[in-house]
Amino acid sequence: MWRAQFEPNLTRMTQTTPFHRPESQPLRFWRNGQLVSLSNVPPGQTLLNLLRETLRSCDTKEGCAAGDCGACTVVIGRPGPDGLTHEAVNSCIRPAHAIDGLALWTAADLAQPNGQLHPVQEAMVQAHGSQCGFCTPGFVMSLFALYQRTTALGHTPNDDDIHEALSGNLCRCTGYRPIVQAARQLRPQDGPGWRIDTEAIRACLQALPARDNAHAHYALPQTLDELLQLRSARPGARLIAGATDAGLELTQQLKSWDSVIDLTRVPELRRVESHVHHIAIGAAVSLQQAFDALSADRPNVHPFGARFAGWPVRQSGTLAGNIANGSPIGDSMPLLLALGASLVLMRWHDGVRAEREVLLSDFYTGYRKTLLAPDEVLAFVQVPRPVSGEWLGVYKVAKRQEDDISAVCLALHMVVRSGHLIGVRIGVGGVAATPVRALKTEAVLEGQEDTPQVWAKAMQTLASEFNPLSDLRASSEYRRQVLANLLERAWIERRGHHFAHLEDVQ
Ligand SMILES: Cc1cc2nc3c(=O)[nH]c(=O)nc-3n(C[C@H](O)[C@H](O)[C@H](O)COP(=O)(O)OP(=O)(O)OC[C@H]3O[C@@H](n4cnc5c(N)ncnc54)[C@H](O)[C@@H]3O)c2cc1C
Ligand code: FES
Ligand code: FES
Repeated sequence: MWRAQFEPNLTRMTQTTPFHRPESQPLRFWRNGQLVSLSNVPPGQTLLNLLRETLRSCDTKEGCAAGDCGACTVVIGRPGPDGLTHEAVNSCIRPAHAIDGLALWTAADLAQPNGQLHPVQEAMVQAHGSQCGFCTPGFVMSLFALYQRTTALGHTPNDDDIHEALSGNLCRCTGYRPIVQAARQLRPQDGPGWRIDTEAIRACLQALPARDNAHAHYALPQTLDELLQLRSARPGARLIAGATDAGLELTQQLKSWDSVIDLTRVPELRRVESHVHHIAIGAAVSLQQAFDALSADRPNVHPFGARFAGWPVRQSGTLAGNIANGSPIGDSMPLLLALGASLVLMRWHDGVRAEREVLLSDFYTGYRKTLLAPDEVLAFVQVPRPVSGEWLGVYKVAKRQEDDISAVCLALHMVVRSGHLIGVRIGVGGVAATPVRALKTEAVLEGQEDTPQVWAKAMQTLASEFNPLSDLRASSEYRRQVLANLLERAWIERRGHHFAHLEDVQ
């Protein structure tokens, strides 16, 4: 059994060997009290593969190799203005070089040298949170990230924090109750003895010499200009952000990457800018931060955002990556189409930055095809701020509540003035080759009185506006019917009636 798990990884290691190049830059990271520096790490080697095959650190497990199960979860520490931020990430789809200049913890790094378990490990033992143990290192690491974000700072995590932190981990054996119970046992007084000297780690990482990105197979540009210049010089390189989509090429399609440009270190793109009429979300802002920013203006985006993947994917993946990836069942696009979002595309041209702004509704040209030129980068997503009288409804229908791709998605934006519907925009996903606006249905509603007859006609129109595919997630007929039902739901909610939401059920 053990060999069967192990052998495919050995094969994969051999497949990536030809990409060892002398000019590849050393991979440097902090782990377990020291700086690790490794040479000849191929640009497409995953962090999990590096841990298990190169470093023989087999405490981190491979379950699905697709970001779905959380068995491979590790924690990375990112230096920031306030010390280190701790992110739980799926090491199976994260390129190893993406942690250059960061700190890393796996389950093997938590206990004291004398064997004393970390409070999250001890709590798992006490609550009987482990049975076969395969998922356990992943759960422990998700709990460790939660501990660092809450308990170590003197806060006790509540049940919402706990469920959110564990939303990317699957367990087949214990059920989740004992694991949640373990998390509930974490108390701030556990903290001091386990405090990590984040200042020392940050100082150590910030003293590292800069990477020579011009010659690196895995480039981590540090400014927007450097990113655009590299993109212009290497339009064929694999551009990545969180790699939560792109990383699947390595593990599911067994592709290899010769040259990678990772945009996540560009400070200009790690910001959410607040303007009078819009917010601008940088391409390196995580999905979680992007949904937080969108929810600040429109609180009902929050439960919708919480259904996007699980916590580790929302920490790593980006809004711009979701849009650029262009999946017809991508979740953020129906919402952004309904909100009238636009995109800022940038490139390096004649020695200067050039940019153009396009509406998201014009961005897709076909199935997974966009207006992006090979040398262009999607730099910012611009989302208009709410206007007075605005109403927004946004819905995702999927087989599971958490960590699942939608079968159908619908977002409705409108402004109700003097009993009339104006500014109607309906974004839909899962019913066409690209995320789209339901223009025919919008036309039925636009400028009309807010009456049951108008809405009935709109539902009828929406049910026949698209001709969706039948696939493993849903049949064509189901998708059409659900789409119309979601519009009906929006209409009923807008009249002040409340539905029971699954997320409200305790
Ligand atoms: C377990 C799991 C669950 C998921 N659940 C969901 C879900 O519920 N809903 C959903 O919609 N998606 C889901 N996804 C898909 C994925 O997480 C999202 O699409 C995410 O937003 C991708 O962002 P990223 O930064 O990881 O993109 P990457 O994987 O880094 O890149 C994706 C693509 O976009 C391109 N790209 C990235 N950034 C830019 C840029 N700034 N400019 C130009 N091109 C760019 C890349 O070249 C690549 O082709 C899930 C994925 C996993 C693994
Ligand atoms: S192995 Fe399943 S998420 Fe990585
Ligand atoms: S303890 Fe067996 S999968 Fe979780």
